[in-house]
Amino acid sequence: MANSIFIDTLNGVQRERPPVWFMRQAGRVLPSYLKLREQYSFRELMLTPELAADVTLLPVDELGVDAAILFSDILIIPEALGMDIKFTDKGPVFDLPLHDAKNQLPFLKPDSSKLEHVYKALDIIKMRKKDDVALIGFCGAPFTTFCYMVEGNSVNHNFPKAIKLFYNYPHIASQLLEIITELSIEYAGTQAEHGIDVFQLFETNAGLIPSDQYVERILPLVKRITNAVRSKNTPVIFFPKGMGTGIKHINPDAADFVSIDWQFSLTEARELCNPALGIQGNLDPRILSIDNRDILEKELEKYHSFGAKNQNWIFNTGHGLSPDNKFENVKFVVDWVKRTNWNR
Ligand code: CP3
Repeated sequence: MANSIFIDTLNGVQRERPPVWFMRQAGRVLPSYLKLREQYSFRELMLTPELAADVTLLPVDELGVDAAILFSDILIIPEALGMDIKFTDKGPVFDLPLHDAKNQLPFLKPDSSKLEHVYKALDIIKMRKKDDVALIGFCGAPFTTFCYMVEGNSVNHNFPKAIKLFYNYPHIASQLLEIITELSIEYAGTQAEHGIDVFQLFETNAGLIPSDQYVERILPLVKRITNAVRSKNTPVIFFPKGMGTGIKHINPDAADFVSIDWQFSLTEARELCNPALGIQGNLDPRILSIDNRDILEKELEKYHSFGAKNQNWIFNTGHGLSPDNKFENVKFVVDWVKRTNWNR
């Protein structure tokens, strides 16, 4: 594994350039993925280990990224707790969201067998991937998973029903958060046992609550999940999207790297965060939808001096890719990161 730029960077080994990958690099921009989707549903791709392994590895071949992220979804935890979900054109929709959480919680029953297909997919990916490609496992962090389970969809990005439960009934909210955390610990730890090189915890909705609330009520749960992974010698990247200056509360006891969203200045994030933490991010993915390559290249140039000074940095977007991003632009970014002289 000595040649992996990704793993060397995670381990603090000096390399000539930052590693590069993108959140949602498989299922949004690749023409080959869109082709597969004509034949299979998202669910079929995700639940069939051979197909999930194929899709996981597509971006490595077609974009040249340094890491492959498991092709799955954060919502398989609610499914493994017994909730039924449909993935529609408008995003995920739950059949019976927890609108009356108090009375519904007793019906949530963890069924680990519903996660087996992920471990099988990881085993296949491990066999097929080249040594210099890092394999990233992931799950949703407790608050974001909670938001989807209570709200039932992502039509309103403010997740009002979930926030109401969080504030009005903290005791019930914490019971639900505990159920999510317990299964996530098992799920994340088992991914580590199946040989992932790094684990990313996605807290996409961190910015929906004040960072004080986050630190007090959610971060302790995050630490339990990340430490379950780290105790198996697998490093962790934590992505608390929209947390703002609250990222200063993410310390090395919670993660190895922090992923910075596109709203935040990467340089300021570096100054705010504990120096022992690595940084990931944070190109605005919407720039990948434009036609003018010069504008994109100018935006990339801004990362040059940062990358020269900071070895413990992984290049990524500040949120996931979206279907209107252009494949050619995404490929251009990978090539740019690789051909740039980072003065290291
Ligand atoms: O490259 C990849 O796609 C990696 C696998 C991956 C998916 N979802 C597949 C997916 C990952 C890492 C996720 C994470 C995820 N899922 C998050 C956290 C990260 C983030 O981007 O904020 C969240 C909040 C979800 C929940 C979810 N799943 C939403 C909101 C949606 C619909 C909108 C969207 O992003 O497309 C999904 C569906 C989903 N998950 C698709 C894919 C490829 C689209 C399915 C399709 O092909 O129709």
